[in-house]
Amino acid sequence: MSQEQMEKIVALAKRRGFVYPGSEIYGGLANSWDYGPMGAQLRKNIKDSWWRTFVEEREDMVGLDGAILMNPKVWEASGHLTTFNDPLVEDKITHKRYRADHLIEEVLGESTTGMTIEAMGELIKERNLKSPEGNELTEPKHFNLMFNTFIGPVDSEAEKVYLRPETAQSIFVNFKNVIDTTRMRVPFGIAQIGKAFRNEITPGNFIFRTLEFEQMEIEYFIEEDKWEELFETWLTSMKNWAVQIGLDADKLTDLEVSKEELAHYSKRTIDLEYEFPFGVKELWGLAYRTNFDLASHQEHSGETLTYTDPQDNKRKYLPHVLEPTFGVDRTLLALLVTAYEEEELEGGDVRIVLRFKPEIAPVQVAIFPLMKKDELMSLSGSIYQNLKKMFRTDFDEGGSIGKRYRRYDEIGTPYCITVDFDSLEDSSVTVRERDSMTQERVNISDLGKWLGSRINQ
Ligand code: GAP
Repeated sequence: MSQEQMEKIVALAKRRGFVYPGSEIYGGLANSWDYGPMGAQLRKNIKDSWWRTFVEEREDMVGLDGAILMNPKVWEASGHLTTFNDPLVEDKITHKRYRADHLIEEVLGESTTGMTIEAMGELIKERNLKSPEGNELTEPKHFNLMFNTFIGPVDSEAEKVYLRPETAQSIFVNFKNVIDTTRMRVPFGIAQIGKAFRNEITPGNFIFRTLEFEQMEIEYFIEEDKWEELFETWLTSMKNWAVQIGLDADKLTDLEVSKEELAHYSKRTIDLEYEFPFGVKELWGLAYRTNFDLASHQEHSGETLTYTDPQDNKRKYLPHVLEPTFGVDRTLLALLVTAYEEEELEGGDVRIVLRFKPEIAPVQVAIFPLMKKDELMSLSGSIYQNLKKMFRTDFDEGGSIGKRYRRYDEIGTPYCITVDFDSLEDSSVTVRERDSMTQERVNISDLGKWLGSRINQ
């Protein structure tokens, strides 16, 4: 898949109400995006499927919904204040900023794995590396990716707070609360869906890397000696869910993150990468965070966060943690690029279709009265009201049936129903299936069951 394909997907996303450029009527805001009606529904479907699979259908998981603003000491303890940095260089003329490591890798072709920021500075000087505009670069310096703001009317350091760069920390700081208020016992996990913010130096590739995004994260608390076995189990569960929502298993690969590139808290990380039109890039991650976070919060807060083994009441320990982490926006993008197809039809026509799984499709059923005649509108209206209670259903009376099919193909609706004059006589309708484009007459009284057996698989 090419960059050209990506442009077509971005255009479709705008045309059909999946993703709009942020603040568009004011000329936009770089790298910010708004999700339109189709995008908002698709995001919800992704999150619902994730929550059902990883929380509701399991006995060893509970949910949490923590605040975005947290006590700044959290970020001191988590290490984000000191280590959540990227090496930044600035064009001395245009003042545009770049990731030093990315420039070195892309322009000089040198790996920066394990390279210190000082060594990057040396290399830039030695090889006379310039900015993409051809100008001198500044010395690389550490740039912290956390956004900050101030509580109250005065912008003083004492009132400074950060927008969370990951949702994980509210899970760690609530570990004791969850243990004390539920019957969860190790091994168990806490799941959370929520917004995270990063002042990325080089955002881009549509919704792939943005400043504001949503994460779906799990912290799975375990005994230390179980981590290797459970790491594999979680990797499999993540891949199974990918297939369940309609991602392509052949486009999903594991990248073992090298020791030098591991985040400060991780002993092992696998990036689950996906084939996007702009290259193979990180989609989700699985990390073994040891008990780094609980230990650090225990030390910084002075609160005991140890867990008492219910089998042996004397044994107290700080559980270790496996962290499967998923980005909602990247999942949505991966679904869009996987589902997108331009299909050549007989006669040379091309139709654009999103082949979403029915479970995930923003609109599952569309009802079309053949014409805007009272009898047809009335019968279609009652079918619509009835099916709306069971499926995400739309009603569309505009344009030829062919045009309506194309419209709903472009948002990935798996079933379109036409109500025609025969329907008034035989109480049946024509159901057209998106992928095969086959049509079948189905009795109106059987529609709910007929669609249910195909949509709720
Ligand atoms: N708690 C661990 C953590 O935050 P991460 O690999 O930095 O790990 C997890 O982020 C996931 O969040 C990524 O795999 C990706 O799906 C998503 N993500 C991270 N940064 C992002 C960004 N700037 N824009 C969109 N999604 C992002």
